[in-house]
Amino acid sequence: MSSDADHPQTARLVFGDKEIELPIIVGTEGEIGIDISKLRARTGAVTFDPGFANTAACKSEITFLNGEEGILRYAGYPIEELAEKSTFLEIAWLLFYQELPTKDQLREFRDEIRYHTMLHEDLKRFYSALPKAGHPMAICAATVGALSTFYQDVKFDDPAEQRRAAAIRLIAKFPTIASYSFKHSIGQPFMYPRNDLEYTENILHLMFSNPCEEYVPDPVVAKALDLLLILHADHEQNCSTSTVRTVGSSHANLFASVQAGISALWGPLHGGANQKVIEMLMAIKEGNRSAKEFMALAKDKNSGVRLMGFGHRVYKNYDPRARILKKACDDVLKKMGTDNPLLEIAMELEEIALRDEYFIERKLYPNVDFYSGIIYQAIGIPVDMFTVFFAMGRLPGWISQWLEFHRDPLSRINRPRQIYTGPKLRHY
Ligand code: ACO
Repeated sequence: MSSDADHPQTARLVFGDKEIELPIIVGTEGEIGIDISKLRARTGAVTFDPGFANTAACKSEITFLNGEEGILRYAGYPIEELAEKSTFLEIAWLLFYQELPTKDQLREFRDEIRYHTMLHEDLKRFYSALPKAGHPMAICAATVGALSTFYQDVKFDDPAEQRRAAAIRLIAKFPTIASYSFKHSIGQPFMYPRNDLEYTENILHLMFSNPCEEYVPDPVVAKALDLLLILHADHEQNCSTSTVRTVGSSHANLFASVQAGISALWGPLHGGANQKVIEMLMAIKEGNRSAKEFMALAKDKNSGVRLMGFGHRVYKNYDPRARILKKACDDVLKKMGTDNPLLEIAMELEEIALRDEYFIERKLYPNVDFYSGIIYQAIGIPVDMFTVFFAMGRLPGWISQWLEFHRDPLSRINRPRQIYTGPKLRHY
């Protein structure tokens, strides 16, 4: 690489008898990318990068993440400050527009979202066709996809306005969709949203109220939920967000794109880990295995067991969200006057892991999912709804990344290459 004092200006690639210069792209926080967009045209070769661990698929102004130092910022604002001072809807605005809203803007945004919280009555009947034992992530993905069929005729002249209208509807309706997947599973009536409540209070009302009794959402629980949603709101180009961008890159509509994102998030290596963590902690609590035995299994490659909630593709340091959540676990449990033995087991596992050579060598630290389940459980969210709540939090991130894709003049349909390793030509 040729370089000056600050950063290299170009990268040189020697390939056979050719030598080519590749431009360098530098991000606002000094991240360096080698622009290989003309590589195949100039050399005939492609890059090989399984899991895209070295590939920046886009430029983005939304979220900055430094995994080595454990830094996460939304549009420049540190996650620690946002977690302390902001609210989930303010964060949604911040991610959409990369600026904090004024008071008036936030009020209008909240009012607009409140106006769209109900589901079409016909869509409610959709749930009765699905098994009560069906996983709520599958039900939510199907229902979000079905929104396309209800809003295909809502047309705006300006495509950007059309996309914004879909975004507002999705943020507004997702709590209703999610809570109905739970109500369906337990056979309780679906509650209408209450537009006089704040966003997270309404979520609690949709989940836990019933027509026979008065329900007043607990402000401690609403605040804890708001924090969880803020911490999950965006995480740059992770598996589900890349999926949303990829589906959107074919110009599929927002509902179809987010439906795919929900499916990607469901997997246990991604958002599904929060459910797996609590199942792991419960197995240890119920005496099926001790923490030490579990750790031994997690290190044994033949066991097929991993320490769920540990490790991350990007963080090679403590996930800042896990740090905030670990403290929040303590606060929420204290405020609610409850105790959760799972928190102690989690802390014991963490302590063993952070001193164990296997985890140190591989830079495996707790991720956001390690402590989130303990709070979800404390505030009464059923275990198989944990990942649905992750999706609820991630929604503004998915949407803002999808909107950004549509604004970006460099956007093209996502279409990776491959290195073919199958049989050579043969004849039938
Ligand atoms: N427990 C035990 N070993 C682990 C763990 C774990 N949780 N995570 C990674 N390792 C080991 C791997 O076996 C591998 O070891 P090796 O080098 O000896 O082969 C090494 O650490 C690197 O792991 P990879 O799987 O190559 O790392 P990758 O970046 O592909 O995967 C992932 C990251 C999927 C998060 C992984 O750490 C994992 O499976 N963690 C558990 C599931 C989890 O908590 N997922 C949530 C992630 S956060 C989120 O999506 C919201």
